[in-house]
Amino acid sequence: MDTRTAAIFSFSNEFGSSPDLIVRAPGRVNLIGEHTDYNDGFVLPMAIDRAVWIALRPRPDRRVRVHALEMRETVEFRLDDLQKGSGWAEYLKGVAWALQEEGLHLQGWEGILSGDVPRGAGLSSSAAVEVAAARAFYALSGLDWEAGRAARLAQKAENQWVGVNCGIMDQMVSAAAVEGHALFLDCRTLDYEHVPLPAGLAVVVLDTSTRRGLVDSAYNERRAQCEAAARHFGVKALRDVSMDRLEVDGQHLPPVVLRRARHIVSENERVLQAVQAMRAGDAIQLGKLFNASHASLRDDFEVTNEALNWMVEIAQSQPGCYGARMTGAGFGGCAVALVDEKSSGEFASAVGAAYKARSGLDAAVYVCKPSAGGSVEQIAG
Ligand code: GLA
Repeated sequence: MDTRTAAIFSFSNEFGSSPDLIVRAPGRVNLIGEHTDYNDGFVLPMAIDRAVWIALRPRPDRRVRVHALEMRETVEFRLDDLQKGSGWAEYLKGVAWALQEEGLHLQGWEGILSGDVPRGAGLSSSAAVEVAAARAFYALSGLDWEAGRAARLAQKAENQWVGVNCGIMDQMVSAAAVEGHALFLDCRTLDYEHVPLPAGLAVVVLDTSTRRGLVDSAYNERRAQCEAAARHFGVKALRDVSMDRLEVDGQHLPPVVLRRARHIVSENERVLQAVQAMRAGDAIQLGKLFNASHASLRDDFEVTNEALNWMVEIAQSQPGCYGARMTGAGFGGCAVALVDEKSSGEFASAVGAAYKARSGLDAAVYVCKPSAGGSVEQIAG
């Protein structure tokens, strides 16, 4: 049973009727543009065909009651008395808090949450829960869906309620993507364009099965180093620094900070080039940019681990692979490879076997389809 059906089926079992609504929000894989979002830069993520679904109906009071199928846990909270706790429900409460902080009047609801975005793998399962929750509150409270505003509020929930200092990329792509396309996003203005994935290409996510949480100080340390570099150049964010300027004026920066800045400045350029390559259907050029991005994340930004480097090397050496890189925050989690669609089956098994031989670990491999962002559907009857 797929996750959508499971949510509807369990809803009927629990409440004795069909849900009024079902909302969905996908996880994501970032094609290129890593750690650029909190530098006001460019990113090119893609929503994947794995999502969080919530089947629900309104409640007359101001309570929210959700049963999470995979977690086998029910949580209930009051919109008038939100209290911090721990676990997956914090994403729901955080979104309710952020929406109410914005002055929106919310309606209570009850429902079943089900999802197949792997948790903790760097595929943004938390952003998917947040955006699904935002869609639910928007739909029930009669608010017009605005992807950019909803994504900003979901990010605020994650930053200020959950306490994870992420950028805007994950929530934005989960809210705004369209099927068959990646989302080229300017993280300063939130302007975006949908860029089609060239025909014949498969996007393959390779989970190293190594983990390191985002709450980790390393992510915040990278942010602080980027901010220090921006201060040195007298600009709001590294987005405003060109490669020429970096080479001329960056020499007095501490070497580590200079390397961090060089990653961001070069990565922003790579995103722009990648968008051109995608529009031109140039898989070879796109693959080269993936490889260059990985090298920069490994050597300049230093957010890869051994497992990610192995996985990427193994992927890059397979026939039919145009390029590969780590994706997401790094320090563990997933790599992403761009593969000739016809080779993707063999690619998946060859990479899995070679990775096991080298690391002793089992990789999970997902061939992902570019999917639509958050949606809401009325259920009849
Ligand atoms: C995590 C964060 C994003 C982004 C990436 C790195 O996924 O949630 O905002 O910073 O890391 O590109």
